[in-house]
Amino acid sequence: QVEAVIFDLDGVLTDTAEAHFQAWKRLCDELDLPFDRKLNQQLKGVDRAGSLAIILAAAGVEASTDERAAMMARKNEFYRDAIAHYSPDDLFPGARECLLSCLAAGLRIGLASASRNARDVVRALGIETLFDSITNAAEVTNGKPDPEIFLTTARALGCDPTRCVGVEDASAGIAAIKGAGMRAIGIGAKDELSTADRVVPDIASLNLDLLVDPTTNEIP
Ligand code: BG6
Ligand code: MG
Repeated sequence: QVEAVIFDLDGVLTDTAEAHFQAWKRLCDELDLPFDRKLNQQLKGVDRAGSLAIILAAAGVEASTDERAAMMARKNEFYRDAIAHYSPDDLFPGARECLLSCLAAGLRIGLASASRNARDVVRALGIETLFDSITNAAEVTNGKPDPEIFLTTARALGCDPTRCVGVEDASAGIAAIKGAGMRAIGIGAKDELSTADRVVPDIASLNLDLLVDPTTNEIP
């Protein structure tokens, strides 16, 4: 019996995945570091410091703690610029309806985001008050793919992890959900999210049956 659904934010409820990509791209262009959409795939769901580490490793560049802090602050400036004018219109089609249908069915809903900007984003999107619990990267020790953020959110919702379903667009996020012992719904391309129990192209394609009925899992 499913009691709660725990959603990722970036790339699931809104297109901030693209805004994160553009912000990293601006930073890398400034610093003359190679960065493209292929490398960006590895960054999805990964927190800010982890993302920078992947970019620097791919470029074969070393940077001190202070240099890294300055790069992360710069990237975040670019990202904050990009989301400054976010409004409820920036929700993906069907996102609000999906949250509301979960609540109408008596399910609790949580947000498990690797982004320290998550609360500001959900506030701008007008969905902050719908969530029973919001957890972001600043509140956990280990980021995705570690299951900690999903386990923390489940605890805050008062639900056993086995009674939670997680929804994610990133493979690091699917790994975190599965590691937490939850059923995982992937949003995006099947070949990139092959360890999910079920993959749908976008949140508009999600319905309550797909969320709560494990018999709708695909046979791999
Ligand atoms: C995740 C995104 O949700 O948050 C990543 O998928 C991003 O791309 C991460 O790097 C951290 O976000 P922020 O806002 O704390 O830099
Ligand atoms: Mg995401």
